Amino acid sequence: MNGLTQIAENFNKVYEKENPENVLEYFLKEFSGHIALASSFGVEDQVLTHMVASIDPKTEIFTLDTGRLHEETYRTWEKTEKRYGIKIRAYYPDYNSLEQLVRDQGINGFYESIENRKRCCEVRKIEPLKRALKDKKAWITGLRREQSVTRSDARLIEYDTTFGLIKLNPLFEWKTYEVWEYIRKNDIPYNSLHDRGFPSIGCEPCTRAVKEGEDIRSGRWWWEEPEHKECGLHIKR
Ligand code: ADX
Ligand code: SF4
Repeated sequence: MNGLTQIAENFNKVYEKENPENVLEYFLKEFSGHIALASSFGVEDQVLTHMVASIDPKTEIFTLDTGRLHEETYRTWEKTEKRYGIKIRAYYPDYNSLEQLVRDQGINGFYESIENRKRCCEVRKIEPLKRALKDKKAWITGLRREQSVTRSDARLIEYDTTFGLIKLNPLFEWKTYEVWEYIRKNDIPYNSLHDRGFPSIGCEPCTRAVKEGEDIRSGRWWWEEPEHKECGLHIKR
């Protein structure tokens, strides 16, 4: 355990039992100007957007627009900005890398191999995320333990060794029903795909609906094994 991981552990001891609003209130103040919420407009991120916009609407909320999102996601983006009177900052793939990617593997090459899929995620999500996090000391995400085997050990506060900053997961312990209770109680806008069998929403070609009782993330990269289903945003090194 390095020093920064140890500091994150000490914070966990103090904050893990607090509710997410209190945690956010402390961190948004402490890291003011150097903290941002990463939103894919999934239901967890909508909960966090509501909390962040209520506590400090000047906080940066950003999204990684891969160019392959569902139309419903763009509509959620628009509705969210109107509802909270905020602007969500978009980061886009570098056009040179994107043109090279499509030249090398075709427009839907990600179905052909895990290697191709990872490279597409690298160009469309990871490189833009690195730029989004460059001047930040902490980022906030909607990760929950319940989402998958790769996330069952998520903590409230982690030191993100991949991107070199604090990572805050305020909903890490929330269950799906708690997320939806909060959405309904506060009348928060959400992606209409959630009502059509999509518990987890990523890029359109790599996401499909799941059946009742199926795993939350089983519709993401459904042709791959569960332990491969991370695009690099949340891999622990
Ligand atoms: S992913 O790694 O498989 O794509 P997932 O969709 O479960 O992640 O989302 C987990 C968290 O990662 C979200 O709550 C959000 O904080 C962040 N995230 C995922 N995709 C994006 C995106 N396109 N833009 C910004 N943040 C994202
Ligand atoms: Fe590319 Fe699919 Fe990854 Fe989106 S989720 S960046 S389309 S491989």
